[in-house]
Amino acid sequence: MKNILFAASEGVPFIKTGGLADVVGSLPKEIDKRYFDVRVILPKYTCMTQQMKDLMGYKTHFYMDFHWKEEYVGIFEANVDGVTYYFIDNEHYFSGFKPYGDNVLFEIEKYAFFCKAVLSALPVIGFQPNIIHCHDWQTALIPVYLKERFRANGFYWNIKTIMTIHNLKFQGKWSIKEVREITGLADYYFTSDKLEAYKDANLLKGGIVFADAVTTVSDTYAEEIKTDFYGEGLNGLLQARNHDLRGIVNGIDYAEFNPKTDKYIEFPYDAVNFRKEKVKNKRALQAELSLAQDDKKFMIGIVSRLTDQKGLDLIAYVMDELCQDNVQIVVLGTGEERYENMFRHFDWKYGDKVSANIYYSEAMSHKIYAACDAFLMPSLFEPCGLSQLMALRYGTVPIVRETGGLKDTVEPYNEYESKGTGFSFTNYNAHEMLGTIRYAEQIYYDKKREWNKIIDRAMAADFSWKVSANKYQEMYDWLIG
Ligand code: ADP
Ligand code: GLC
Repeated sequence: MKNILFAASEGVPFIKTGGLADVVGSLPKEIDKRYFDVRVILPKYTCMTQQMKDLMGYKTHFYMDFHWKEEYVGIFEANVDGVTYYFIDNEHYFSGFKPYGDNVLFEIEKYAFFCKAVLSALPVIGFQPNIIHCHDWQTALIPVYLKERFRANGFYWNIKTIMTIHNLKFQGKWSIKEVREITGLADYYFTSDKLEAYKDANLLKGGIVFADAVTTVSDTYAEEIKTDFYGEGLNGLLQARNHDLRGIVNGIDYAEFNPKTDKYIEFPYDAVNFRKEKVKNKRALQAELSLAQDDKKFMIGIVSRLTDQKGLDLIAYVMDELCQDNVQIVVLGTGEERYENMFRHFDWKYGDKVSANIYYSEAMSHKIYAACDAFLMPSLFEPCGLSQLMALRYGTVPIVRETGGLKDTVEPYNEYESKGTGFSFTNYNAHEMLGTIRYAEQIYYDKKREWNKIIDRAMAADFSWKVSANKYQEMYDWLIG
C-alpha cells in the first residue's frame, strides 16, 4: 500500500472558496484504494459550518516551536466517503469569517505555520506518507521544510513531494527579512535559485524548486506558464523545470454534479430527456429570480469569483449591447466590489433581463447550471476551470475564451462538420466575445436541432476523474519507484 497525503488550504465538503476545494474534495475519492491510501490534511477554520465541525473528532495535540513561540497544534480527524481527513487546529491562525484574509504578511505566517504543523503532525498521528501532494502556495513550504529540517529524522527521509499549481497568480510573496523571521529558514534559502524572486521571498517558488515533481491542472496552462504573459514572473523557473512539469486536467465529481439526481434542482433530467425537461428548470429560475417568464429567451449563466482573472471587464464593456439582444443573463458570484456593483447596476437597468446574485450559494449554482442555455466564461487566464465542466455536464453550452483548461475541455462548434461542445474565441477582446455570443444565439434561435446536438455532445463528453486520476496514480508510482 502506498500512502499519499494531500495538503491544502481548502477542500469540499469542509470549506470552499473556489475550484481548488472541488479538486481536493473529489480527487482522493477516485484514487484506487487497492493500491493507495490517500488522506487529506486541512486547517481547521473556525468559519467552517457547525455541521462540518460535528463530523470531526479530536485526536491529539502537541506544542511546536514557531516564530519564536510555542504554538498549540491540535489535530482533529474525520472520515467522509471513505477518505480520512485530518485538521490542524490553532485559533490564533485559523479564526476569522473567511479562510483567507487581506493581510498578506499574516497569511504567509498562517500558512507557514500550517506547513510546519503538517510535517510535525505525521509521526504523532502515525501516518507516514510516501508522497505529500501539495496544492498551491499555501502548502509550498512543505517541500522546503521537509528538505531543510525534517529529512534529518529517519521518519521523513524517504518522503517525496509534488507541488500542484492551481493558480500561478498567487505565490505568497513578502520581504525576505520578515519571511526569514517567520519561517526560521536560514539565509541560505533566500537566494535566486531557491526562495528569492525579484528581491522578495516567494513561497510558491520554494515549493517549485524543492518539490520532486510539479504539476498544473491542464496541458495548455502547463505550456502557457512558461511564457512571459502567463508566467507571473516564474516562467524562467518553470522552463528550467520543464522535465518535471506536467499538465493533468481536472475532473469533477460526477455523483455530486449529475442533473438526474441533483438534490438542488427541481426538475431532474438526463441526456435522453433534456429536450423536454431541462427547460422546466429555466422556468423555475425565471420565477425565482423575477425574470421575464419566457421559455424562448436565450439564458446565459455566469457562476464565478468576481476577479480580473475571469474576464469580467470584457463583459462590462459590451453588457449594454448584449442586453439589446433577446437574452437573459443570470450571475452568481462574489469578489471585487467594482464587478459586484457592475452587475448590480445592470440588474437595476435591465430589470427582467439581468439577475445579479451577489452571494455564495451551492444550491443556486446548481440551479444556474441546470437552467441556463449557455454558460459564459471569457477568462483572461484559466488554469483549468471547473465551472465549464459543470456546465457541460448539465447540457449548458459553454462560451469560453481559448485559454488554459477552457481550451482543453471545450471543443468549439463547427457547423460544417457538426462537431463541438461549445463556442470559443481567441483574443482577449470584448467584441470578439460578443460576436461569439451572437453566433451562439443565432444557432439557438435559427437552428434548434443543431443546438440540441451540441447539447448531446456536451453531455456525452466525459470529465469525470477516471482518466486524470489514473495519470496521478502513474505519477505516484513513478515517484515512489
Ligand atoms: P476558480 O477556482 O478559479 O474560482 P473554477 O471554475 O475552477 O474557478 O471553480 C469555481 C468553483 O466555485 C465552481 O465549483 C463554481 O461552481 C464555484 N463557485 C464560484 N462562485 C460561486 C458562488 N458565488 N456560489 C457558489 N459556487 C460558486
Ligand atoms: C484555481 C483555478 C481554476 C482551477 C482550480 C482547480 O482556482 O483558478 O482554473 O480550475 O484552481 O484546479
